[in-house]
Amino acid sequence: MKHLVIATLGLGLLAFGGTAAASNCTIKLSGDDRMQFDKKEVTVSASCKTINIELAHTGQLPAAAMGHNVVVAATPDVQAVNAAGAKAGAAAGYLAKDDPKVLGATAMIGGGESTKASFPGSTLKAGGDYTFFCSFPGHAALMKGKLVVTP
Ligand code: CO
Repeated sequence: MKHLVIATLGLGLLAFGGTAAASNCTIKLSGDDRMQFDKKEVTVSASCKTINIELAHTGQLPAAAMGHNVVVAATPDVQAVNAAGAKAGAAAGYLAKDDPKVLGATAMIGGGESTKASFPGSTLKAGGDYTFFCSFPGHAALMKGKLVVTP
């Protein structure tokens, strides 16, 4: 009987540990002067109250020449968001104001800078098709990755 109680407790702890490890709520990326993010895939959970975006630009070039941001959108919307951003121009950080297709986005930064932003986890659906990318003109060709969303 005593053994059974201990075994049950152990299982409970394992289940708790597993859940905690699975709930990542931060999209942490760095971008460099070679127009690359350090990751091609990031996983977050739709159950997160808030999804944080943390971007560090590890290069040296200024934002006007090698600006980076992190924009999250449904994959089929990426091209439209990018086109609207290019039209909005540098002063707008290459992102159209109040674009409903933008689910989350950081400011546009240059080398040596870092920035943070956040958006509600409820914006994302588990299993949905999402992409993170940089909206500086031409960058999304290289600077994009898959945002995997778990329950
Ligand atoms: Co960029």
